[in-house]
Amino acid sequence: MEFKVVVILSFLLCICNGYVFGPSTQSAVEADRKEMRIQSDINILKDNMHELLKRVSKNKNEIASLKRENQYLRKELENKRRKFSCEINVLNEHSYEHQQLLNDTKTEIIHLRSSTIEEIRNRVDKLEILESQRSEVNNTECIDKPVLTSCDDGWKRHTNNCYYFSTYSASWTDAKRECTQNDSRLADASSTSEIDFLKNNTAKYEKNFWLDGTDESEEGVWVWSTSGQRFNVDDWYSSEPNNADDNEHCLEIRRKLDNQWNDVDCSSLKSFICKKPLM
Ligand SMILES: *[C@@H]1O[C@H](CO)[C@@H](O)[C@H](O)[C@H]1NC(C)=O
Ligand SMILES: *[C@@H]1O[C@H](CO)[C@@H](O)[C@H](O)[C@H]1NC(C)=O
Ligand SMILES: *[C@@H]1O[C@H](CO)[C@@H](O)[C@H](O)[C@H]1NC(C)=O
Ligand SMILES: *[C@@H]1O[C@H](CO)[C@@H](O)[C@H](O)[C@H]1NC(C)=O
Repeated sequence: MEFKVVVILSFLLCICNGYVFGPSTQSAVEADRKEMRIQSDINILKDNMHELLKRVSKNKNEIASLKRENQYLRKELENKRRKFSCEINVLNEHSYEHQQLLNDTKTEIIHLRSSTIEEIRNRVDKLEILESQRSEVNNTECIDKPVLTSCDDGWKRHTNNCYYFSTYSASWTDAKRECTQNDSRLADASSTSEIDFLKNNTAKYEKNFWLDGTDESEEGVWVWSTSGQRFNVDDWYSSEPNNADDNEHCLEIRRKLDNQWNDVDCSSLKSFICKKPLM
């Protein structure tokens, strides 16, 4: 029984101790804890504060540097503005000069155009007057001096030339001079048609006729004495030229040789043929 009481008592004591003294011990611990927590909070806050202060000062620096940058940029901008305005002024001056030049050129062109047009008009007028005068002159010329389309009396025409077949005889040299005195030359022949024309006519007259050919300068080299040209066509009789007696240096159309060509003594007397262009 006593044991039970002791147990119960100690039990109660335990409980009483727990209930009556328990709270006071617990709150002290709690306070300690709280204090510790607060302290740590304060420490954290301090750290944060420190950090914030650091940031603020950092931001201050940044702001200051931004401000400086801003100022610098403003100055730059102003400088650029001033520079550009200077350049714009210069450009304006240039463009003013250009404008003036342009104006001058324009005025000049306008002046030139009107004066040139006036000048051209005057010239055209003059030209027209000259042209009308000229055609009048041409007209009177046409009436006064008709173009000669036929040969003089006694001359025969073949293509654009006139030919005179002499009725009298002369040496080759005299014959040549005769033709020259009548504004013509001793006849040459430059085509087979011309050769035929001459031959047809000499056949009618039944005489021998001098032509302009000679080999006096170089034996065997036949040339037309007036032009100095060698023959480009010829009508030699089959056995001619033979330079008989080494003394035949002038060209004739010989009746008895079928009116073909023969070399003969230049001093012999023969009829001759003069030739001049149709004018
Ligand atoms: C050029 O001419 C125009 C009109 O003709 C005028 O308005 C302008 O002022 C002139 N400029 C100069 C630079 O002479
Ligand atoms: C006037 O004559 C020249 C030569 O005399 C000629 O060239 C021109 O064509 C002629 N003009 C007229 C309009 O007949
Ligand atoms: C050649 O001229 C002379 C005098 O100059 C003249 O008498 C003769 O009729 C003229 N012959 C020909 C064919 O024109
Ligand atoms: C020369 O006479 C022949 C015959 O009569 C003729 O056929 C020819 O057309 C004449 N030639 C010339 C250039 O007169």
